[in-house]
Amino acid sequence: MTGHVENKVALVTGGAQGIGRAIVERLTAAGATVVIGDVQDPGDADRWIELDVAASESVDAAVAAVVANHGALDIVVNNAGIMFEEDIDGHGQDSWQRMLDINLTGPFLVSRAATPFLKASRGAIVNVGSIEGFSRNPGHVAYSATKAGVHGLTGALAVDLGPFGIRVNAVAPGWIDTELNATYVDDQPDPAEVRRQLAELHPVGHIGAPTDVGDVVVWLASSQARFVTGQVITVDGGRLSRPPLPGILS
Ligand code: NAI
Repeated sequence: MTGHVENKVALVTGGAQGIGRAIVERLTAAGATVVIGDVQDPGDADRWIELDVAASESVDAAVAAVVANHGALDIVVNNAGIMFEEDIDGHGQDSWQRMLDINLTGPFLVSRAATPFLKASRGAIVNVGSIEGFSRNPGHVAYSATKAGVHGLTGALAVDLGPFGIRVNAVAPGWIDTELNATYVDDQPDPAEVRRQLAELHPVGHIGAPTDVGDVVVWLASSQARFVTGQVITVDGGRLSRPPLPGILS
């Protein structure tokens, strides 16, 4: 992959940890100059810019700072996101709005701020959606709605920005072995059994690594994907491709 994003300037939102961190590592390894836009300090002062994707002033300032410091903006990865569970019965409007603000309004605001610069560089946007934009776990009312929204935003931006040479795609990760997910599994009464059953859900026989997502993001951002736009690429080890059978038959 090296060479296809070489010397490109990339902004990765939520790049301080988890999947975003792996996207940062993979883009950097492929030769891009990467800025981490995050509310939290990744302990990487040279590459960090403080950014709250839910606040338009913060977004506009961060995007302007990236261009002022690096002379251009070629790649935007809208990765920052939050997840919590809440049932529809009594769902708080504040929590619903917070999820929308970060997961869906965030990518809108960042894409809007970056558009003039991406027009200049004929750049690319990669959004991080989710398999939960296609199929849902219980109690994920707000999360699923935002991720389906991210998938819709991806297609809409691809249509509007294609004439300016800007490609817009998304990845839809499945179960990824981030620290947060690992902690969640470790907190279960029988983590080993949870891990065994999780692996079984996937035709490839294992869950994903953050770098599995990072590699697809690099490809989508690179010139190798020059004829690919408006797509949501599922990165889930085949999990969604296999509808569940009754336990007694599977
Ligand atoms: P994470 O919680 O480990 O990392 C999220 C990052 O976003 C953190 O560094 C956090 O500080 C940052 N962030 C949160 N709010 C922000 C804001 N307002 N402005 C700027 N940065 C903010 O999450 P993870 O698991 O790495 O997820 C990353 C993306 O991947 C999210 O969009 C998530 O929905 C998506 N995803 C994750 C999956 C998984 O299995 N972990 C599966 C499918 C999608």
